[in-house]
Amino acid sequence: MYIGLQHAHSGMAYLALLGLVVVIFWALFGSLSGREFQEKDRKIAMIAFILSHIQLLLGLILYFVSPLGFSLLTGGGAMADAASRLTALEHPLINIVAIAIISVGYIRAKKLEQSRSKFRSIYMMYAVGLLLILSRIPWSAWLG
Ligand code: HEM
Repeated sequence: MYIGLQHAHSGMAYLALLGLVVVIFWALFGSLSGREFQEKDRKIAMIAFILSHIQLLLGLILYFVSPLGFSLLTGGGAMADAASRLTALEHPLINIVAIAIISVGYIRAKKLEQSRSKFRSIYMMYAVGLLLILSRIPWSAWLG
């Protein structure tokens, strides 16, 4: 269960990050071109929204089965070194905040009236979320 989840969370990370980057550029170019925000644009923004939520769900389950998650936090010593602090506290916490910001960007875009404001809500909030996620990825464990 642990290894399977770890692989799923590790692999889905590529899709979630790629989805966010593509949607940010899509919305940015949509805004710069001055064109109308269409249903197709909402669906494209929804792809990254869903991918990041799948990643959140996998992360939440993983947190309670991984030796680097909740058990490390409650077992003591997690605050002592930077790598433990990252997986047991900073990575989960910051990513939950990041995905909440991405969700606000998507939901707000649906409510706004003007096309440019809709595009802006998506590319700005998604970009803030992406930067937060990138700031707290355990890079050496993932790619090292
Ligand atoms: C978009 C959001 C997220 C992304 C892109 C992401 C990405 C990653 C990556 C790339 C790793 C390293 C995987 C590896 O070592 O192969 C990782 C590890 C981990 N993530 Fe996430 N994550 C996200 C959200 C979350 C959330 C919300 C939680 C918990 C609530 C979480 C819990 C964990 C844990 C516990 C590990 C260490 C797993 C282990 O190696 O045992 N992640 N994450």
